[in-house]
Amino acid sequence: MTNLFSREALRATRVLGDKRARPNLTWLQSLTGTSYVSLRSTLVEAREFEAQEAAMRATHLRAGRSNYAQTHAPLELYTIVRLLRPKHVVETGVSSGVSSMHLLLGLNRNRYGVLHSIDLPQEQAAPELAADESSVAVPQGKSSGWAIPRRISRRRWDLRLGLCQNLLPTLVKELPQIDLFIHDDLHTPEHLAFELALLRPKLSPGAIILSDDADSTGSTFPKFAQQVGAKLRQRGRTDLVGLRLPGHHLTE
Ligand SMILES: C[S@@+](CC[C@H](N)C(=O)[O-])C[C@H]1O[C@@H](n2cnc3c(N)ncnc32)[C@H](O)[C@@H]1O
Repeated sequence: MTNLFSREALRATRVLGDKRARPNLTWLQSLTGTSYVSLRSTLVEAREFEAQEAAMRATHLRAGRSNYAQTHAPLELYTIVRLLRPKHVVETGVSSGVSSMHLLLGLNRNRYGVLHSIDLPQEQAAPELAADESSVAVPQGKSSGWAIPRRISRRRWDLRLGLCQNLLPTLVKELPQIDLFIHDDLHTPEHLAFELALLRPKLSPGAIILSDDADSTGSTFPKFAQQVGAKLRQRGRTDLVGLRLPGHHLTE
């Protein structure tokens, strides 16, 4: 299996400039339940947006950020969107837009669905990123999603700027259903619990929920998995975790 996908892994490392962005097929398979054939063809298809990834990486590098992958699973996000065909995707935490870009690429390709993102950008203190400053900060004069190439259509993007604690309740009220959720904003057990409790009544059968930085959120995600009767799936040895609610099967 590793050999079958090694080309995609090499591509991810080369284009994204970050080994951690190599797609984890075992994780994807366990989350989506789809065949390796489907996963492979979706990843091969992702080669088409190499130029956009290279452009984003160049923008990051110009702004003094060498780590491309804030969310270490950009290609997995694309693949999940292509296979799940979600109508409503909710994401908390945008920063430069690595995860948002890959989710949008999937939705644009599907010609279906909307990405609802919430982010309170945290501005870089000086014109240059300081050595001890987080690369998550936004360069001065820029805003959330600043590294997403202009040529990527934002027609399917509902980006809301502000504190998630204030904006998420309204967003959830507006949505009829949520098919995919990615938590990547404030990584505390309480905040993750707040987000999951709000979203839960709107989650559709078979929805996928992902949570980054699980090392910082303690037992919140495992408890949630138990409550909804789903198996927690950890992405290799990283602290990105996910689950899929019981429900309908994905079409291949
Ligand atoms: C880890 S970064 C997101 C990385 C992004 N998912 C990616 O793949 O590039 C976290 C983002 O969440 C924002 N954030 C942190 N706490 C927040 C909160 N309570 N409400 C809204 N945004 C928040 C930060 O300012 C930052 O932009």
